[in-house]
Amino acid sequence: MSDLPFTFMLNMPGVIPSRIDNHIQRKLSALKGQFNDQQAFDKMLAEEDRLIYEVYEIKRPEVEGEMLMGVSIVHPGKVGREYFMTKGHFHSVLNTAEVYYCVRGEGYMVMETPDGETAVEALVAGKILYVPPCWAHRSVCTSRQDDLVTFFVYPANAGHDYGTIEQVGFRKMVLDSENGPEIVDNPRAK
Ligand code: PA5
Ligand code: NI
Repeated sequence: MSDLPFTFMLNMPGVIPSRIDNHIQRKLSALKGQFNDQQAFDKMLAEEDRLIYEVYEIKRPEVEGEMLMGVSIVHPGKVGREYFMTKGHFHSVLNTAEVYYCVRGEGYMVMETPDGETAVEALVAGKILYVPPCWAHRSVCTSRQDDLVTFFVYPANAGHDYGTIEQVGFRKMVLDSENGPEIVDNPRAK
């Protein structure tokens, strides 16, 4: 891998980076146990293992001092009343932050700390979000027709800890309601 400076573009409207080292595609089955409406999940999965989100990664050595960048694209849709979302994670090196820049779409970043502090920030195109060290994070797409596209940067040695969240999910959920997106407590996460 070259250690020379490099550039790449995020060209509208697709916003797929002009440099891609890895393309991750996560389907519905990868989010088993995360959506609150289990019946709606099973029904949807029986019909089709739909693509929920994709990540385009720009690779760097996963060592202290390096930064990892990429683009996350959460597609629109719902399981029951709950919007499509990423799995979400703590960083394995808990004390590492992340910066998100919302390029397109609308949604939320659902966050929490190991002590149970919660935060939910709305994302719209042009908004930058700083996720401080120790905060788990999950992106949620609330548009009916547009992808939620974010560009992210985080320390390359951070790693992903999915296990903690996989057990009961985040403390807050984003559900569709008559008045638009509604943030509610997750009854499974106490
Ligand atoms: O490190 C991040 O927070 C992002 O790169 C995410 O990995 C990306 O948005 C996909 O989410 P997740 O890793 O929770 O599947
Ligand atoms: Ni992260």
